[in-house]
This record gives sequence, C-alpha cells and structure tokens, in this order.
Amino acid sequence: MTQMTSKDYMAREDKFGAHNYHPLPVVLERGEGIFVWDVEGKKYFDFLAAYSAVNQGHCHPKIVKALTAQAEKLALTSRAFYNNVLGEWEEYMTKLFGYDRMLPMNSGAEADETALKLARKWAYKVKAIEQEKAKIVVCDGNFHGRTITIISMSSDPDAYSDYGPYTPGFVNIPYNDLEALEKAFEGPNVAAFLVEPIQAEAGVYVPEDGFLKKVSELCKKKNVLFMADEVQTGLARTGKMLACDHEGVKPDILILGKAISGGMFPVSCVLADDEVMLTIKPGEHGSTYGGNPIAGKVAMAALDVIKEEGLVENSMKMGEIFRREMRLIKSEMIVDVRGKGLLNAVEIKPTKGKSAWDVCMAMKENGIIAKPTHEHTIRFTPPLIINEGQMIEAIALIKKTFIEFGI
Ligand SMILES: Cc1ncc(COP(=O)(O)O)c(C=O)c1O
Repeated sequence: MTQMTSKDYMAREDKFGAHNYHPLPVVLERGEGIFVWDVEGKKYFDFLAAYSAVNQGHCHPKIVKALTAQAEKLALTSRAFYNNVLGEWEEYMTKLFGYDRMLPMNSGAEADETALKLARKWAYKVKAIEQEKAKIVVCDGNFHGRTITIISMSSDPDAYSDYGPYTPGFVNIPYNDLEALEKAFEGPNVAAFLVEPIQAEAGVYVPEDGFLKKVSELCKKKNVLFMADEVQTGLARTGKMLACDHEGVKPDILILGKAISGGMFPVSCVLADDEVMLTIKPGEHGSTYGGNPIAGKVAMAALDVIKEEGLVENSMKMGEIFRREMRLIKSEMIVDVRGKGLLNAVEIKPTKGKSAWDVCMAMKENGIIAKPTHEHTIRFTPPLIINEGQMIEAIALIKKTFIEFGI
C-alpha cells in the first residue's frame, strides 16, 4: 500500500465529510507541548491551540495519565447512578472558583444552554417574572456556540441564516455599551445578561477597562443575573485565571469549557450559588455524558497543571512580549494588534491582493499555524506553556512572513 499524503487525507475529508469548516490545508497527526507535526513530519508552532482548548499544551503527560488511568477503571455511569469521582470534582471546582455548586456538561454550547435554562428557571421561580416573559440580554458580535437557541442570539448571518424559526426571548445590544445595557434592563422582565469578558470569536474585542465592573454593579442593582461565558477567555488564557478577575468581579453564573480538559476530552460546566442552581430539580436538565468520571479526573488534572506550572503568570508575560513585538513589525497590512494575556489578534488590511488567509498560508509554510477569525483578523492563541525562547522564535517566523510579503 502506498503511503497517504496530506493531499489524500484532505481529499478524503472533502469527499466524505460535511463541508461545515474551511480548514487551513495542513493534516496533523501528532502533538507535543506547543508543537504539532503533519503527516509528512513537518513541525509547526501551534498558534491556535484548538481555539484555546489546549492551554496546557498538546498531550500533557499529567492529563494523559489522568485520562488513561480512569478510562481503564470506569468511563461512564450516566447520572442514573453515583460515581466516586463526580463529587470530588464538584468540590474541587466550587472551592477553586468560590461557588456553592457546579453542573457538568460536555461542550461549551451545552454549558451556555445550561446557563440560559438556569436564568429562565431563576426568573420564574425566584424573581417571579410572569411565565414566558423572561428576557435575556446579549451582545452583538457574541459567540456562544452553534445550537438553534444560541444562534438565535447571534448577530452573524453566517451563524444564523436559514436556521429559523429562532428561539425568542433575547434582546441584543452593542458590546461594551453601558448605556444600552442600562436601557435594556428597564422593566420587570429581565432575567440575565450573558456576556463574553472579551469577544474572542468576533475578533478579540477587549471592552473598556471598568466595563465588567459596571456590568456587575448594574446587574446587582437591577436584580439581573450576570452570566459570564468564559469558555474561551477562562483558565489563564488572558493572564488571569478568569478574565473577570482583571476587574475583580464574580458573575452569578460562570460558564467554562475548552481548557478545563486541556483539549483532552469534551468537558464543560456551569458554576453558580444555591439560589440559582437549586431552581433546577431532578429530571429537569441533564446529559448522559455530563459528569462522567473521565471528565472529572481530566478536568482536575488540567486545572492542577494551570496552577502547578504558573500558566496565569506566563500567559500575562508572554502576551506582553507578543503584542510588543507585533507592534514593531513594519507592514502596511497590520492595522491593529490587540488582546490580553495570550488571547491576541492582529487586524490585517487586505493589501495588493493579499488577505489574512494568505498571511496564514504563508506562516504555515514558515512553520507556524494560526487561523483567521472572520475575514481580516488573525487570532494568535498558543498553548500557555510557551516559554520566552519559543515565543521569540515564533515571533521571528511571523516577522519573516511579513518581510517576505514585502508590503
Ligand atoms: C465564548 C465561547 N462560548 C462557547 C463556545 C462553544 O463551545 P463548543 O464549541 O465547545 O460548543 C465557544 C467556542 O468557540 C466560545 O468561544
């Protein structure tokens, strides 16, 4: 049998798979730390880290060990029975993040759906909003996943077009607009405000300093739940454990996913206090895989790695180096560099027929992979274990790419 090449793998996916993604043409087969290798053996710096899921680096030995040890013992019980890991994981999470309770799910979208359901339950059971009247305020440019309800909140036609009818009950306001928020909170029927502390998928939009603090104050004043979607910003990505920590605020509902498993396994969860979490009773919400023992062991190992390896501090420090060096690149194509910690974006002005996609293709040739988010923005989110030497090397490859463009 002849050896398959990257081209063959891509052609096979193209033929037999749905066309719901447009990947960069690179076929990966191995990962270790901040590096991945393609099927031809070429090595790349991974500057996407699976959309910030692989914060701890690829195949982290501690997380692999947690996964394999538990998989050999007990993988899935469903929640029809207790298992001996879930309680340990719940205690770990609630103590780490300072909440009364945790509700485990699998994907980020499911965790967001859970938060929305909690908000509505709370609205009817605690805030005593009239049935069917609860409103949830969300932001234009949001990204919370791909379910019908979640895309009903989206302002991105690619995400919502031709999927109607949509779930009602959402009020969209511009991101980072406190005046609009205050206005949206008028009346008795507002249950919650759902917000990303930094809008990552939209293109890494960092709100003004003080925004989250004001959001938190306003929510308290109006008896509205503050729900922070930290699926992408959470767990050391922005240079703090949570992006909300930059402003010392604690959301009423905290939504986590992605890096909670270090990219090893689909794990997500929602954290809240009793007043909110206990509104959902047995049989009213759940998931066959949510809270499985592998997820629990993997998540605890992944969070241990963040603490033991100082990833919060490293993310902050490496991020500062990255943005400083990107701003020094002399290219007409770079119009903005923004971000926090290691959640960063470079805004590209299409010039002489070259776009952000072309930059990503050229970077790939030079041994570094990243992906445009929307048309003109390249997101750079390497694993948080990257050290200074590696960061300097990666930056040199990015600079080299722009120099070769000569624009
Ligand atoms: C902020 C945010 N919320 C939710 C999600 C959805 O997560 P998942 O793809 O695991 O459903 C994402 C994914 O990118 C995200 O960035």
